Amino acid sequence: MKKRFKFEKGLDDRMEHMNYIKVENELEGAEVLTEIIGDLLAQNALHVLGLATGGTMIPVYQQWVASSLDFSQVTTFNLDEYVGVTPENENSYAYFMDQHLFNHKPFKEIHLLDGMAQDLQVECARYEQLLTDKKLDLQLLGVGENGHIAFNEPGTSFHSTTHLAELTEDTVTVNSRFFEPGELVPNTALTMGIQSIMNAKKIVLLAFGERKQAAIAKLKEGKVDPDWPITKLLDHEDVTIITDL
Ligand code: F6R
Repeated sequence: MKKRFKFEKGLDDRMEHMNYIKVENELEGAEVLTEIIGDLLAQNALHVLGLATGGTMIPVYQQWVASSLDFSQVTTFNLDEYVGVTPENENSYAYFMDQHLFNHKPFKEIHLLDGMAQDLQVECARYEQLLTDKKLDLQLLGVGENGHIAFNEPGTSFHSTTHLAELTEDTVTVNSRFFEPGELVPNTALTMGIQSIMNAKKIVLLAFGERKQAAIAKLKEGKVDPDWPITKLLDHEDVTIITDL
């Protein structure tokens, strides 16, 4: 079934410490992640959890909802939110989280970025301060086709904390699949920065399907490259990649 292995020798040494879990498909990937979460909860090692949205996370949250996992003592932080989209709008990430997870499972505290905040800079500072105070035990990540993590697009500073981000045209196009034809797709978002993500004790990244091939290939090259934000994870000491690639 599932294989846990380190990268083979011959790949860059920096990959050595990454836990690379190769799965058959996203359903199996979601199962593996759910098992990891269950283990952490059982060890009382998961109090603050960073969550992601997007297609990759849908089977994960489906499994959590169907499981007996108890998140009632867990505080969550979401990675990002579109600017100018209300939580009632079904394209908002707040709505996504309610639909897929929060309406079905109780949590201790839920923290979301407010893309409708009057002062977006103040909102980012508020969120980053909360992250600093609470400290993420685990951050879950998907990855964009262009290697973005959260909405940290290629070229984003590795020192970035929570900030207002411009989405690339490619990302806007990819995201438009969730919007009705003709509907305006936001091109700005609030997002945790690369440093905010790197501050998490553990990181688990999920990537499935051909669309993610280039980003995972860059990671396997073992070199940190600002044009591929995913590669910064090479500098983190506790990263697990769950992928069918
Ligand atoms: C979502 C997020 C994004 C997605 C990425 C992949 O909160 O931060 O970085 O993880 O765009 O999206 P999907 O899973 O839809 O392919």
